[in-house]
Amino acid sequence: MDLFEYQARDVFEKHGVPVLAGAVATTPEQARAAAEEIGAKSGGVTVVKAQVKTGGRGKAGGVKVAKSAEEAEQLAAQILGMDIKGHTVKTVMIAQGARIAEEYYFSILLDRANRTYLAMCSKEGGMDIEQLAVERPEALAKIAVDPNVGIDTAKAQEIVDAAGFDAETGAKIVPVLEKLWDVYQGEDATLVEVNPLVKTEDGDIVALDGKVSLDANADFRQPDHAALEDKEAADPLEAAAKEKDLNYVKLDGNVGIIGNGAGLVMSTLDVVAYAGEEHTGGVSKPANFLDIGGGASAEVMSNGLHIILGDPQVKAVFVNVFGGITACDAVADGIVAALDNLGDEATKPLVVRLDGNNVEEGRRILAERNHPLVTIEETMDGAAQKAAELAAAN
Ligand SMILES: Nc1ncnc2c1ncn2[C@@H]1O[C@H](COP(=O)(O)OP(=O)(O)O)[C@@H](O)[C@H]1O
Ligand SMILES: [Mg+2]
Repeated sequence: MDLFEYQARDVFEKHGVPVLAGAVATTPEQARAAAEEIGAKSGGVTVVKAQVKTGGRGKAGGVKVAKSAEEAEQLAAQILGMDIKGHTVKTVMIAQGARIAEEYYFSILLDRANRTYLAMCSKEGGMDIEQLAVERPEALAKIAVDPNVGIDTAKAQEIVDAAGFDAETGAKIVPVLEKLWDVYQGEDATLVEVNPLVKTEDGDIVALDGKVSLDANADFRQPDHAALEDKEAADPLEAAAKEKDLNYVKLDGNVGIIGNGAGLVMSTLDVVAYAGEEHTGGVSKPANFLDIGGGASAEVMSNGLHIILGDPQVKAVFVNVFGGITACDAVADGIVAALDNLGDEATKPLVVRLDGNNVEEGRRILAERNHPLVTIEETMDGAAQKAAELAAAN
């Protein structure tokens, strides 16, 4: 999950990273009130900042300096509702104005290829870091960070030295980098980026902009993170699936997919995409990822079917289950019970492929129930083709 800048600011503050005062507003009037309060700390000057989860807000006109509370109100009126790279601005942050002497860049991210973390740092931060990385990569220091050690004082010193800071500035940045590591590790982040990290005219180091991505796999030990979710932007089907603890991702196609085990579901997506190309001229495509896990009980199966059938784009469903510890007969019972639970709600054809432990009994149970919507296929390829064809025909 990516955070809004104002949320990143709060998280930074919690970990002792120096930030400026900021408050969010969703109307120009609120922006004015916030600017009256916050501007008092900075000679009346505030910055009105669009809160959208994309970069380049400054260049798009979404970051504007206001010299008075009236001006903050006017700028908020301009910026609220603005479209920035396909994101509508619904909230602005009124930030205390900084008197910037220099702008730097710093980030920590997960370096999957090298199985480690990577810190990047540059004396030339600001709005064009991507361009800098391409045109003058030597100006962007890249230092591997050992996950077992993190960014301690020695590592932070190595980073500022590699970036070429003078001793005095470097000494001020080192403790800030250590605190940003606390954010990265303490919040289970996969990205912490500060651009710009500034030196003010008074010589203080401050994080002026923050981008933080949190690792959803760590949600179980981060109870505070649920509150950071942008409920409004969440896909309603994904939200409903999450409530039922289902591992569901909405995609754009017409073939609903249920499988047990993430690997099997991933390959099911591939097989359906291929069958769609091959047999329906690209009309049929996977509509979702849904892994119902090893248990595949009747309840989980009907929850899964309920979500998938609730997607108006879905025209046929492919249930692909490999019986392991939970044998195929139990899965077949689950499917039958799910269809009975759903009753009239089950309106779209279901292609079922069962294999593995106790497959004969599983197929017998489905055959005996003889549900008009269910087709049993023996192979994964055959079932994918059938589901793709039914979806295209529906
Ligand atoms: N609180 C602030 N005070 C003064 N200038 C700011 C402040 N926040 C941002 N800026 C200026 O605006 C630029 C762009 O803002 P930033 O928050 O980095 O947005 P983005 O990266 O999306 O363009 C910064 O590089 C900085 O020069
Ligand atoms: Mg920025």
